[in-house]
Amino acid sequence: MASGLNWDGLSRLNHWLVAAAMVAMLVFGVYLHEFVPRGPEKGALIGIHKAVGVVVLIYGVWRVGYRLIQGFLEETTAMPKWQSTLAKVVHWVLLISVIAMPLTGVLGSYFGGRDIDVFGLFTIASAMEPTKGLSDAFMGMHGVFAKMTILALVLHVLGAIKHHYIDRDDTLKRMLGRA
Ligand code: HEM
Ligand code: HEM
Repeated sequence: MASGLNWDGLSRLNHWLVAAAMVAMLVFGVYLHEFVPRGPEKGALIGIHKAVGVVVLIYGVWRVGYRLIQGFLEETTAMPKWQSTLAKVVHWVLLISVIAMPLTGVLGSYFGGRDIDVFGLFTIASAMEPTKGLSDAFMGMHGVFAKMTILALVLHVLGAIKHHYIDRDDTLKRMLGRA
């Protein structure tokens, strides 16, 4: 379904809120994984990463659900088939990752026997009997999805820049509410 109505303010708000959160969480995760040595400080930072991730998951279900119900908008200009196919694949990878990134984190934590305290509001208790194999598998997926998301995001942003500065069409303007 495609209608002029579905790039409404809500779609744009959803896009930019979740985009900012996902970029921040990707940077945070890579920083944690690559640069923070084990210890209490790392534990505290992971606690924040987990709590924010659960909030992203809750909001993400609404954001992705809304897109699935509303459908995507038509492209602003005619473009070669490979470009529109690539754009669609990238949109799907990004939509899936909005759910898959936090969900694999939650499951990795759950099977690892670690609770998730969501800013003192509620706690997601861990499995009674931790299963290291399952926890490692989900955390492995968390890392693989992270790399896929970063690759998709690079293509996505390059696409937006190309549309704006080379094709000079309304793709970016429409997402900013200026077209
Ligand atoms: C940070 C820089 C970003 C820029 C400049 C950007 C720009 C855009 C633009 C211009 C569109 C409209 C495409 C069209 O009209 O066909 C779009 C759509 C989309 N973007 Fe982004 N985006 C960014 C980040 C993200 C992130 C981090 C995600 C998800 C993790 C994301 C997910 C999507 C999705 C799924 C669509 C398809 C329509 C929708 O469901 O909202 N974007 N983006
Ligand atoms: C928006 C959602 C999320 C994003 C984008 C994200 C992103 C990342 C990234 C990029 C890494 C580094 C992975 C690597 O290089 O192998 C990471 C690590 C991690 N994430 Fe997430 N994450 C999200 C949500 C969550 C959630 C909800 C949890 C748990 C409840 C979680 C738990 C962890 C843990 C435990 C690590 C390992 C840190 C370390 O290396 O010691 N993440 N995350």
